Amino acid sequence: MSTIKQVALGTQGLRVSVEGLGCMGMTGMASGAMSVYGTADEAESIATIHRALELGVTMLDTADIYGPLENERLVAKAVAGKRDQYTIATKFGFEVDNAGHMTNALNGRPDYVRKSIERSLQNLGTDYVDLYYLHRLDPAIPIEDTVGAMSRLVEEGKVRYLGLSEVPGDIIRRAHAVYPISALETEYSLFDRRPEEEDILATTRELGIGFVAYSPLGRGFLSGEITSPDDFASDDFRRFFPRYQGENFYKNLALVEKLQALAATKGMTAAQLALAWVLAQGVVAIPGTRRRKNLETNVTAAGIVLSSTELAELDAILPVGSAVGAAYPEG
Ligand SMILES: NC(=O)c1ccc[n+]([C@@H]2O[C@H](COP(=O)([O-])OP(=O)(O)OC[C@H]3O[C@@H](n4cnc5c(N)ncnc54)[C@H](OP(=O)(O)O)[C@@H]3O)[C@@H](O)[C@H]2O)c1
Repeated sequence: MSTIKQVALGTQGLRVSVEGLGCMGMTGMASGAMSVYGTADEAESIATIHRALELGVTMLDTADIYGPLENERLVAKAVAGKRDQYTIATKFGFEVDNAGHMTNALNGRPDYVRKSIERSLQNLGTDYVDLYYLHRLDPAIPIEDTVGAMSRLVEEGKVRYLGLSEVPGDIIRRAHAVYPISALETEYSLFDRRPEEEDILATTRELGIGFVAYSPLGRGFLSGEITSPDDFASDDFRRFFPRYQGENFYKNLALVEKLQALAATKGMTAAQLALAWVLAQGVVAIPGTRRRKNLETNVTAAGIVLSSTELAELDAILPVGSAVGAAYPEG
């Protein structure tokens, strides 16, 4: 199997694999009270991170709230001895207290920026993070203050590059004016085209900021392997997302069935076609998986080049705004 290509992310010098590995599903949520996308399996997750390196998928995406904290510790175990061969991206901003519990508050205060990086470095078993993201904007703190504090971490060598996640265009501009932002991580898939609709992609392109598409498989739904709400375990957190509830579930499933049918005519799986579409938008994608088998499938998608006719076919069956239901529960 061939390895994946490396691309520039932003214009500050960061280079990453065009597909990274989303690690969120490798641990549970809310201190183990909930699973992310079904039961976690530490041994297979670590084997997946090792296989990723062999395939050139060198960027790992984690966050302090995954677990909370457990996900970064799992990544540390997996990369031990080979840390410098990976690009580690982590995030802060959903407040995690000293006991490792989420407080349900956002925190972008400069003192919390420092506290968060020290904790992440310790949990990741490293003295630097390659890409440090503000996970969500704290509306109570000017973005200038948060990014100013993040920039001091770059000056101190604790962080190599800065990123933001799920922020609007005006915030991207204000942040970038304080310190160059290398990446914006936002949900983007055939199910979620808000970055196009809200001019987010256009803003990142104008400013030379890299775009990292998270949940490129629509949280697994675009694979076509989820056909009933009962396919979600009772503690699977997708049960709380309007997009995968009640009538929305079946309306969105009908779209996925069309995607599957189109993929079949091309000898691909729906997951491969969905990922190839995201990559065709000129962005980096970070599909999440806990399994080597799915990682390998996803890597093959990076080698698929879709023609303009194929992109038009996809637009016809899954036009902007076709998926129904909000991406996140209210609040
Ligand atoms: N910045 C943010 O706010 C934010 C929010 C959400 C996620 N993220 C990041 O983005 C990463 C990716 O997003 P995501 O995990 O939410 O969603 P995703 O990548 O769209 O989908 C992940 C789901 O798809 C399944 N899957 C993966 N490859 C597959 C394949 N080839 N065939 C069938 N099923 C497949 C996975 O199951 P298996 O594990 O069984 O393969 C998992 O259930 C996360 O891991 C996380 O690092 C960031």
